[in-house]
Amino acid sequence: MPTIKAINHVAVVVEDMDASLSFWRDALGIELHEMRDVPAEQSRVAFLPLAGAEVELVMPTTEDSGIAKYLAKRGPGMHHICLEVDDIEGMLAQLRAKNIRLINEEPRTGADGRKYAFVHPQASGGVLVELYQL
Ligand code: CO
Repeated sequence: MPTIKAINHVAVVVEDMDASLSFWRDALGIELHEMRDVPAEQSRVAFLPLAGAEVELVMPTTEDSGIAKYLAKRGPGMHHICLEVDDIEGMLAQLRAKNIRLINEEPRTGADGRKYAFVHPQASGGVLVELYQL
């Protein structure tokens, strides 16, 4: 049986990375571990690790990416919560069997080799859920 292991990260979509860091890093005092461009996602991501999880700030770097369209339509704010799972294929099969709507029918593989897939927010009452297998 596939098992959810942990909250891996919470992602926040931001318009202005510096303004956002002035809250998350400077005002709250969470350490900025890394910031990098993710060309495949046309975005810049800042990673702020916290007790085994992470806050990720995501800013679009082009006008027409998925994340840019999301920002234009819904404004900045919570984007998704990511749950670590030990068997992503098994979990997707389990969700399909329960008629849960998926965004990615099959797991995708990130640049770092991690497998991930998104579950449609319709299923969760409005929260975009990412599944991650490390
Ligand atoms: Co994510």
